Formats: sequence, C-alpha cells, structure tokens
Amino acid sequence: MLSLSFRRLVRQLPFYVVIILSSLITVACEAQEKGIPLVSPGGTHTVRFMVDDGVPMYSVDRGNSPIILPSKLGFELNGHSLAGEFELIEETFLDQVDETWEQPWGEKQWIRNNYNASVYTLRTMGEDPWMLRVHFRAYDDGVAFRYEILPHETIGDIEIMDELTEFVLAADHSAWWIPAYQWNRYEFLYENTSVSELDVVHTPVTMETHDGYYLSFHEAALVDYASMALQRKDGLTLEADLAEWSDGVKVRGSLPIVTPWRTIQIAETPGDLITSYLILNCNEPNKLEDVSWIEPTKYVGIWWEMHLGTSTWFQGEKHGATTENTRYQIDFAADHGFDAVLVEGWNVGWDGDWIANADSFSFTQPYPDYDLHGLADYALESGVRLIAHNETSVGILNYERQMEDAYKLYQKLGIRAIKSGYVGHRKEIKRRDPVSGEVLGLEWHHGQWMVNHYQKSVELAAQYQIMVNVHEPIKDTGLRRTWPNLITREGARGQEFNAWAEDGGNPPDHTCIIPFTRLLSGPMDFTPGIFDLHFPDSRPDNRVQTTLMKQLALYVVIYSPLQMAADLLENYEDQPAFQFIEDVPVDWEDTVVLNAKIGDYLTIARKDRNGDDWYLGSVTDENPREFSVVLDFLDEGREYTAQVYADADDADWDTNPYAHTISEQIVSHGQTYSISLAPGGGQAVRFIAD
Ligand code: NOJ
Ligand code: CA
Repeated sequence: MLSLSFRRLVRQLPFYVVIILSSLITVACEAQEKGIPLVSPGGTHTVRFMVDDGVPMYSVDRGNSPIILPSKLGFELNGHSLAGEFELIEETFLDQVDETWEQPWGEKQWIRNNYNASVYTLRTMGEDPWMLRVHFRAYDDGVAFRYEILPHETIGDIEIMDELTEFVLAADHSAWWIPAYQWNRYEFLYENTSVSELDVVHTPVTMETHDGYYLSFHEAALVDYASMALQRKDGLTLEADLAEWSDGVKVRGSLPIVTPWRTIQIAETPGDLITSYLILNCNEPNKLEDVSWIEPTKYVGIWWEMHLGTSTWFQGEKHGATTENTRYQIDFAADHGFDAVLVEGWNVGWDGDWIANADSFSFTQPYPDYDLHGLADYALESGVRLIAHNETSVGILNYERQMEDAYKLYQKLGIRAIKSGYVGHRKEIKRRDPVSGEVLGLEWHHGQWMVNHYQKSVELAAQYQIMVNVHEPIKDTGLRRTWPNLITREGARGQEFNAWAEDGGNPPDHTCIIPFTRLLSGPMDFTPGIFDLHFPDSRPDNRVQTTLMKQLALYVVIYSPLQMAADLLENYEDQPAFQFIEDVPVDWEDTVVLNAKIGDYLTIARKDRNGDDWYLGSVTDENPREFSVVLDFLDEGREYTAQVYADADDADWDTNPYAHTISEQIVSHGQTYSISLAPGGGQAVRFIAD
C-alpha cells in the first residue's frame, strides 16, 4: 500500500515527455518510475498508473524490463470526449486476492487466481462531469485492466466511437499474428514478422521480445461490447481497434458500461503462456447452477466426406446424412467407445446455394431420408448421442426465430450438443428488423451485434441443457468459465483446410503456432485424427501435411473438451494406431508443457481427469527433432507402462508419412525419456499407471 503523502506527490509529478524511437534503447534498460505502482504478488510485474495533463495512462514493467511504455487510456463518445481533462479523485488497492477454483471440465482441474488490484476513479473537469473507473490487476503471469464508464447525471445511453487504449511496446518484437477485417474471419495462417510490420491484427497476438520474454495480447470476458483488434499506429504503438457497427458506432449501451478486460500475458517461456490461466481468471465464475449435464465428448460424424466432396450436405444420390449412414456411425461409436455422432446436412435448407439462401434453413425439420426421431432413439439405446448441426450461413434472424424451438426439440431427443456455424463473408451479416425482417445494416462477425447474438445462443442453449460448439465464432475470451456449456469453438484454420484449401492446406508449422496464439484464448474444435492423408480420387491437389503419428499427438497438443475422430470411419479399420484415439481422454486434471518453441515444436503432457494415466503429445514443424524430456510429472514410487506411438526412423510428412512404430516400455518418475520426431511428425504416448 502506498502512503498518502507519496500518492499526493505522485499526482503532482510532471509526467511523460513524448518518447521518440531513438530513445527506446535507453528506456528499455531500466524500469519506469513514474506513476502509482501496483506490484504483482510475487513481485514479477509492476503496473503504474498516472494522469498526465488530464490523460489517464499506464505502464508495465517486468523486473527491470519495461514491457509497456506509458500508454494512453480513454474513449471517444458520440458528442462527448473522454480523451482528456481527467483528474484522479480516488484510488483503492486490494492486496492479495488468492483463491483456487475448480473447472467443471478443462485442461486443468484447479486454477489459482492470485493477484493484487487497484481501482482508479477519474472525473472530467468542468460542468456535467463524466466519471471513469479503471480496474487493474497485476498477476505474476501478466496484467489485465478494464474500464467502467460510470452513470452520468443527465445522459443514460451512450455510443462509443473509439476506445483509445494503447499498448506502447518497448522494442520491435517478433510477432505471430493474423490480419483483422479480412474476408475469412479468423481463418488465416499466422504470419511471423516484427511488430513494425503489423497493420491491424486480431488477438491473441503473441510476441517474443529481444530480452527473451513472451507476451500475448488479448481480451477477457467479451460481453455486450465490440471485439478488439489491434491497430499499429506509428512506431511501436498498438491501439485498440473495436469492430464497428454498420453506422460507424463501435459500441452502444446504457451507463454504467463495463468493458472486457484488456489482457497482457507475460512469460519467461512460450510454454508458460500455455499454462497461464489469466484469461479464465478474469472471467466471472460459473453462472449455471447444475453443470452435471455438461460432459466432455469424443465424437465421430458425417463431416469429412462432405469436405472431400464424396458426399453432399444437400439432397441427392450422394446425400451424406441418411438414416443408414447415421446408423453405421452410431454403431461404430458404440463399438469404439465414442460418446456422440455429429451429423451435418440432416436438416432442410442445404439445396442450392446454401450460403445465399441462409434464410431457408430449418433447424427442426429433417430431410426425408433422415429419420431424426428414430435415430435419436437408436443413438440413446446404443449409449451414444447425436450432435445437431446448425449451420446458419449468418441468417441470424432466421436462426433466432427458431433457436428456442430447436433447442427444446433437441433436449427432448436427448441431444446434448450442437455445432453451430456462421459461414459468411466479411461485414455482410444482415442485421434485420426482428419484426419486419427489413435489412437495417451489414455487420461484422466480431462487432457488438454479433457478440450479442453468439451470447444469446449460449445462454438459451444452457436453459435446454445444450452444449455449444461454434464454428466461425466470435473469438474465445474465456467465457467458458461463466457459461461452461460454451464447450469449444473453431476460430482458426482447422483440419478442413487440408481437404480443400487452394493453398494446399495447413503447412507443418501451423499446429506448432496455434497453441501459442489462437489456443491461448481457449479450446478449439480442430478435428484431428485423419489417417488417410492423401486423397488422389477426390482432392488430388490437397493432402494432410503431417505424419500419421502427428495426427495422434494433436489430441494432446490441441486442447478441446469436444474432440473428433475426423476421418472416414473405414480409414480406421485394421489400424492399431486407432487405439490411441479410443484411449485418449478429453478432460484433464493437469497440463504440463515439457518443451516449446513457437512455430517449431511443442511437447505437452496431460493427466486424465478420471484416472491415473498421463498422456503426452509432441509435434514438430517441417524439421526433424530429437528431444530428451524428464518424466517428473509421473507419480513417484509407481511404474507406468508407456505405450508409444512414434514416427518410424524413415518417416517424413512429405515422402513417408504413414511409417510408424507402436511399442511399450516401463518408465517411472524422474526418468529421462527420448523423443524422436520425423519432419512434420509427432509422437503420442499413453503412460498407464500400475
Ligand atoms: C464450416 C465449418 O467449419 C465446417 O466444420 C462445416 O462442415 C461447414 N462450415 C458447413 O457448415
Ligand atoms: Ca470454418
């Protein structure tokens, strides 16, 4: 806690001079000293807050290394300015919040939430003042802050035209990013450039600094607000860039307005970013009382065949979602211990151009060759559940009009999960008048209006005990903590690109980048498990650019509580390696990163939440790797049988992707274990406790 006299002194300090790029090197060597400090519990990070010439500002240090140089905070409102003229009227400090909470499902069962906090209340000078509160949290794995625009004496509703939050970086770091505002939403390959080459990028955007730290910028608890991209202004300043409504307003709402948290994860290793739970910690606790119906799920389904073009979503000879095909899938699921079967193309609306005809989708009426009720019963009798596919093609009003009836029906049929879809191009989502259906504007997937739509679906689904897996989603901001039925989502280039992308598919390093970028925000329905890596008859120009073993390793490396065995079921026949997919859990007690280099490789071990076994997944990019890892995550005093699914010595994603060995060895705690990965390869291990 600060003494009062120090605080008074701090308020009177003459604050920042403009920092020009040439002085950055000097600045970068020593911690910043101006402003009211807030230090994280272990002393790792210091956030400083100050009001400089009426402008609220903050900075962040890690030890002696400046991470964020003095950066502005504030808003532009329609008709009013909150950009300056503030005075600090109150400051409160909260020492040592230290709580441990349990995830109903997750990559780790118990999460520690340990931070120090400060809250600054500001008021504009002059008449009819505006009041703004800025909340900061200092964690040992990063920093988070959010705004509260407090009630105003005469104004109730406001329109935010711009959020002025800046992140002024201390040096030109190396960044992994995808572009924002492009046609394919979040479905791009990550680029790796220096920050000075960025334009406007989605978050999470992850960086490696010259002094060996790893940073990731994102947001937490995005509710009733526009999502934030980051726009590089000049030099090394990134500014919050909120997705606007069709009329240019960024956010509309009634006071008080609380923004999402702006989060900066800061770590010494890339692996520590993966095991940082800062984003979840900034979300509200679970709001659903009973979560017993929310079950991590391993599924198969009628899906890949449509992506290969051998079946169709629409009616006709090649229609995939037939009663017969679905029964075959249910039987397979029951025989091999899968929990569910996803069926796409089951419902009316796919015929013709399904993207243009979004409004003809029915979410309750099956095609005539699909016996919805009979199949749902057959699935339940077999100990399996159907997953209902709800592709909306961004016909939002059409979906919202049917959502409740659909969820009600699914619940009656024993369906516990939907996969929703929002295929549609940039800024083309028709916002219609709910009554007349008239088009009022064209919106972005990541603007406030759609953020609210996604949220509506999740909350309504919870009422009918339905889990939601969203494709073409709004990015994950940790809301699964508050609404645990928001079980997973897409929001990056998944396996589907390997079937049809014009660039040939995901290159070998893609799955060595997304764990450090997209996946920091939360689980992803990537759909691993393709065993037939070439498609000479259906898609000769595409293939999967991994070894077979890397497909297994992805079940551990890419976390998702809803995990698919994505290939055609016939490709799993007579494949001993399929045993790993049958065995691998989808719910974990703990997660440990054994080694990691962004874009190059990653090895993760996770412990089954419902048993004593550990599982390991190791993946590499196009380069072969040899690793030694220490098995210190295993219980002491126990023996484990390691079932090892390894690339063969001569395996190579390009020339020899199927070559592998399956072997067993006895291992114990503390032992050194060697891993050898082929180019584009992977390894998966199950450690069975004695
Ligand atoms: C895109 C989704 O990502 C994919 O999984 C789905 O099959 C198609 N849309 C059709 O809805
Ligand atoms: Ca997609």
